[in-house]
Amino acid sequence: MRLDWNGQPVQVREFGHGPAIVLVHGYPLDGAMWSGVARALSAHFRVLKPDLPGRGENPTTPDGRIGGYADFIEAIFSQLPPPAGLAGFSMGGYVSLALMKRDPASVRALALVDTRAGADDEAGKAGREAAIASVRSGGAAAIAEEMIAKLLAPGSAQNASLVERLKRIILRQKPETLESDLAAMRDRLDSTDSLARIAIPTIVLAGEHDVISPPAECQAMAAAIPGARFVSIPAAGHLTPMERPGAVAAVLSEFFTPVLA
Ligand code: MLT
Repeated sequence: MRLDWNGQPVQVREFGHGPAIVLVHGYPLDGAMWSGVARALSAHFRVLKPDLPGRGENPTTPDGRIGGYADFIEAIFSQLPPPAGLAGFSMGGYVSLALMKRDPASVRALALVDTRAGADDEAGKAGREAAIASVRSGGAAAIAEEMIAKLLAPGSAQNASLVERLKRIILRQKPETLESDLAAMRDRLDSTDSLARIAIPTIVLAGEHDVISPPAECQAMAAAIPGARFVSIPAAGHLTPMERPGAVAAVLSEFFTPVLA
């Protein structure tokens, strides 16, 4: 898909045919984090894996707001025939929850992957400030090792080719884009109260060993959304779509198939 965003052309990578599913990536990443999942889902769906502003095939300037990223995802949905599904990973989940508050008619089913409804507490905000200072002085390299350790379960961290792919994605991110992501996450609003108003089929996934969005928190989020189901992904940390792409694609396919039919 090609779309004009803030006066600039943006290419959104897509694969396959069928009902559309938009996969929203997390920090400090880009749409490539969804490659394995997208490949598997594309057997039955039209899968779109956009790059949020400031990275990959999206050269537009990020504005440091989760709401700004949600505007971009909403623009993609405005070009898709309904019914379409949305899956947001971590920061992409924050974006998805912000979009859900607008009650978008075109989003018919929602997957929240290793993400949280709560806002940052004071310690969390201080952590964002420290990370902003690091990327200003040292770029993506300054946060790569620490992030890789947090994103992967200990078992996945032994997988050299996975670590290599992840490192490549992180190291190609621009400091100003990472700063935008960090500011957006630091300032994001609490979405807990809005969970009860999500009125579309929803599934929540979390890696068994996720230390960024702990499974207990993801399970509580699922319990607060009417009718939502929680699924634990075994042998994975935070980055389930890259650690266990086959397992994540299988859960998403089973969930989206009946609701987008
Ligand atoms: C992400 O995976 O998108 C981020 O690590 C989430 C966060 O830091 O809150």
